[in-house]
Amino acid sequence: MCGIVGYIGKKNAVDVIYNGLQKLEYRGYDSAGIAVIENGKIERRRSVGKLVNLQKNIKSNKIFGNIGIGHTRWATHGKPSEENAHPHTDCSGKIVVVHNGIIENYVSLKKQLQKEKHKFASETDTEVVAHLIEKYYKGDLLAAVKSALKNIEGAYALCAISCEDSSRVVVARKDAPLVIGLGKEENFIASDVSALLQYTKDVIFLENGDVAEIKENSIKIFDTKNKKVTRAQQKILWNAIQAEKCGYKHFMLKEINEQTQTTQDTFRGRISDEENKIILQSVKLTKEEISNISRICIVACGTSYHAGLTAKFLFEKLTGIPTEVNIASEFRYANPVIDNKVLTIFISQSGETADTLAALRLAKEKKSKTVAICNVVGSSVSREADNVLYTHCGPEIGVASTKAFTGQLTALYLLVMFIASKKQTISKKQLAKFIVNLRDVPKKISETLKLSTKIKEIAKMFQNTKQFIYLARNINYPIALEGALKLKEISYIYAEGYPAGEMKHGPIALIDETMPVMVIATKSKVYDKILSNIEEAKARGAKIIAIANKGNKDIVKKSDYQIFVPEVDEILSPLINVIPLQFFAYFVSVMKGCDVDQPRNLAKSVTVE
Ligand code: AGP
Repeated sequence: MCGIVGYIGKKNAVDVIYNGLQKLEYRGYDSAGIAVIENGKIERRRSVGKLVNLQKNIKSNKIFGNIGIGHTRWATHGKPSEENAHPHTDCSGKIVVVHNGIIENYVSLKKQLQKEKHKFASETDTEVVAHLIEKYYKGDLLAAVKSALKNIEGAYALCAISCEDSSRVVVARKDAPLVIGLGKEENFIASDVSALLQYTKDVIFLENGDVAEIKENSIKIFDTKNKKVTRAQQKILWNAIQAEKCGYKHFMLKEINEQTQTTQDTFRGRISDEENKIILQSVKLTKEEISNISRICIVACGTSYHAGLTAKFLFEKLTGIPTEVNIASEFRYANPVIDNKVLTIFISQSGETADTLAALRLAKEKKSKTVAICNVVGSSVSREADNVLYTHCGPEIGVASTKAFTGQLTALYLLVMFIASKKQTISKKQLAKFIVNLRDVPKKISETLKLSTKIKEIAKMFQNTKQFIYLARNINYPIALEGALKLKEISYIYAEGYPAGEMKHGPIALIDETMPVMVIATKSKVYDKILSNIEEAKARGAKIIAIANKGNKDIVKKSDYQIFVPEVDEILSPLINVIPLQFFAYFVSVMKGCDVDQPRNLAKSVTVE
């Protein structure tokens, strides 16, 4: 999730754009750049690392212009580097582009453009856009952008300028936000309002498929049918801090609500309906290497470990490969029996967790093939593993991981199905059904997110509890662990997750009217078993909150509170069932007055032992 800013007017575009990028830095930064039109030429400055490096660069290599575009990058394709930093130019250097999103078909487009003698200078998907515009450019930048977009699949919010057509910024958006800020004889463009509020509160939000021409004194917007349209002008009443959180009270709440988009971004460009296959360009495991895998060893910490536990069910059910899951801090000091036939998978949102990184190095010493599942492009774990699958969730600011967790699950589903298809342990029909069900998940997540008010009401009843037990079975057992971790880490209430069948082997002694129980009781092959576990707990005085599927009547009699979630295929249910648990922990934490985004004693990335 990158940040883009554009400007056209009387001010020095460099200052306006730089100030705007500073407000977007929370969206992630590993490099940044600005391009302006000065004396009829494109002048571009780019720097890797924090935004302040770009400021130093521009200070020593001054540029000035009244029209420009800028970008702060959260890498998706291509490591963080100056040559991968935006803005990107075409061969002539007369057209520059900044982009937020993912061009799903950039590999095939790049190959075609290279055949047409276009020279590429970066590894990014975005550079393809600059060359496509060049290909169609015949003096009219707006027309060239419209033609270029017809070839592009994926998500984009982009700005383009040309030194040969210097009276306007051309912008476009599809599945990534873009907002126009309205000024007097000047106009602004940005990924979100936080970059604009210092200049204007009057904005126009572009809609999906819109292409617009932004001049000093005019804005023309065209819809997907190339019809000129008007979009509502709005006044933003947020202050800058509220804007960074898109109006949400906390980053964690914003990130919970981003999960419709982020799960989609994780599988975007990686499933082909036509060819009925999973496409993982960054996982170089051949069919033969896959058939030689004797065992899978997943290694991670915390929430990422819970994602690994879920994946164990998936790998063993769908690929038949024995799978174990290890806590990284234990794995690195044990004597793991690993060799070149073991596939080791390292799950880490930050890609910098010291224990996970040490475990990766140990596995590599033992000649294991390694795969990393990371959210931060260019992070240590992602760089040192043989293969990497990025989750593309954008920066996760809240210490309690939410969207990164569902991103990890989604990436693991893709990896499991990729391996299962190569091993032919699933039929084409099963894969096709999985693809249809996975594409339906974002819609089901949106439905689940609407339950927040109901969950908040339930959370009110438990804000003073001192302890909690979370129960589930089978593929949702790791979700019980994850829900308990969420409650522990942001509300400081002691909570424990257990496999529900384990209660009678000791933990049920804990149950009385002071021990509430959260139970995942969605449709599954072990649903009846879960019901009897609920009765055992209720009979001993526990207050029961049940996560169940809509329309389930018998759960009402057996539990005190119900959260009804949309039904999905059982193997995908963890993606839905974790969301009420994230909301529950969030609301209890807020009611207890805890620091939701930065809970005590915790860090977002544990880069030390
Ligand atoms: C999750 O809410 C916690 N913040 C923590 O358990 C986290 O998942 C763990 O530290 C692993 O971090 P990583 O995914 O960046 O490696």
